[in-house]
Amino acid sequence: MEKMWAGRFEKALNKEADDFNSSIHFDCKMYKQDIKGSMEHAAMLAACNIITEEESLQIIDGLQTVLNDIESGALPIDENAEDIHMFVEAVLTSRIGDVGKKLHTARSRNDQVALDLRLYLRDESKELLKLLYSIIETVTKKAEENADVIMPGYTHLQRAQPITFGQHLLAYAMMFMRDVGRVKDALKRMNYSPLGCCALAGTTYPTDRMMTAKALGFDGIMLNSLDGVSDRDYCVELMSAFSLIMMHLSRFSEEVILWSSWEFKFVELDDAYTTGSSIMPQKKNPDMAELVRGKTGRVYGDLMALLTTLKGLPLAYNKDMQEDKEAVFDSIETVKKCLSVFIPMIETMKPIPENMKKAAQNGFINATDLADYLVGKGLPFRSAYKTVGQIVGYCVQNKTILEDIPLEKYKEFDEHFSEDLYKAIDLQNCVNLRISAGGTGIESVKTQIAQVKEYLENEKGIY
Ligand code: ARG
Repeated sequence: MEKMWAGRFEKALNKEADDFNSSIHFDCKMYKQDIKGSMEHAAMLAACNIITEEESLQIIDGLQTVLNDIESGALPIDENAEDIHMFVEAVLTSRIGDVGKKLHTARSRNDQVALDLRLYLRDESKELLKLLYSIIETVTKKAEENADVIMPGYTHLQRAQPITFGQHLLAYAMMFMRDVGRVKDALKRMNYSPLGCCALAGTTYPTDRMMTAKALGFDGIMLNSLDGVSDRDYCVELMSAFSLIMMHLSRFSEEVILWSSWEFKFVELDDAYTTGSSIMPQKKNPDMAELVRGKTGRVYGDLMALLTTLKGLPLAYNKDMQEDKEAVFDSIETVKKCLSVFIPMIETMKPIPENMKKAAQNGFINATDLADYLVGKGLPFRSAYKTVGQIVGYCVQNKTILEDIPLEKYKEFDEHFSEDLYKAIDLQNCVNLRISAGGTGIESVKTQIAQVKEYLENEKGIY
């Protein structure tokens, strides 16, 4: 196919260079946004008397047939075209003749590609938001079902204090709520139209940029034409938000992997989300969680790739910027795929409360509560802490646990101990007593669940 810019050249582009230059195999994803943008541009050209109403309608109808035929498969994307923008325009002109050549008046591929990418990422991000709401819902439902299931809470991966499984799950709901906020924040900042910035300097035609911006659902126009064509901040912002989503999913995955191991056996993953081994018949591997953890590196890599691509670019458009798309497409597709598998994996994951409880009973997880008990009897916390440390040491030496030491023995350590100490170190009691806001007490967990539900309710209908 002859290049549209062939006019000033005497030779065709070298074949290998041509392939190297072509971006259609990835930017073809944006065909719908490209056509929509062109339709509004054509409507604006007529409204501003730059082309006639008749020409505009011909272009818009022609573009509609191109869109229909791409969607139905009747028009295969030509892999030899330079990019999706050139392809659509070439097909249009072949269908409606010379009028098609008027479409590119008062526009450049530089503002066109900037527009298409914003529109595409806006659509995709809204899909991603739905998945984020869905994971928040799923995690909260699981938390509700497990609001009173006792498990060990960890620091340094050492058993620390008893918590509920509900409390643990809700921590992830909070992370994903922040992720929603970040994506929405990026969406707000990116919702300004670059269309009409043209190559870099604007145009001599009397265009109406606000008209196309409004028609395409933008909140306004990019105020500076150089910035309009060279800004890719929104890609970086979105990819940063995606990286954080992956970081959260990866931490969650790591826990699911630990929990489903024989060493923990806190949960049983559904067969539909695990795989077997080719030689070890006993194996049930948490591959989905491992893959999500693994793909996190890839999403971070996409972010780094684009940041590095952009760092040395002079204004305005440079061909380096064609590299933005593969990175940002890969990033958003990876996050969406991960969430799509992760959500049902969590939905079908079965907790094993007996094992969680057993693990909580065997780690002196109630030692803080025993110290708090002594504080209640009038001891300063540091002294209570030291005494309980000695008692734990005694237990370790004598292979026993706090619950099993007789009262007389306790009294040898401190005379303030009396029969009520056993109630104080009862795990259920330890959990129930953590009544502080955001704590692991059942009431607090219920409050958090109500708060997440209220959040979801308020978010409904925003996107
Ligand atoms: N395929 C190009 C890209 O993705 C389109 C913009 C090309 N502009 C240009 N002046 N060569 O960035």
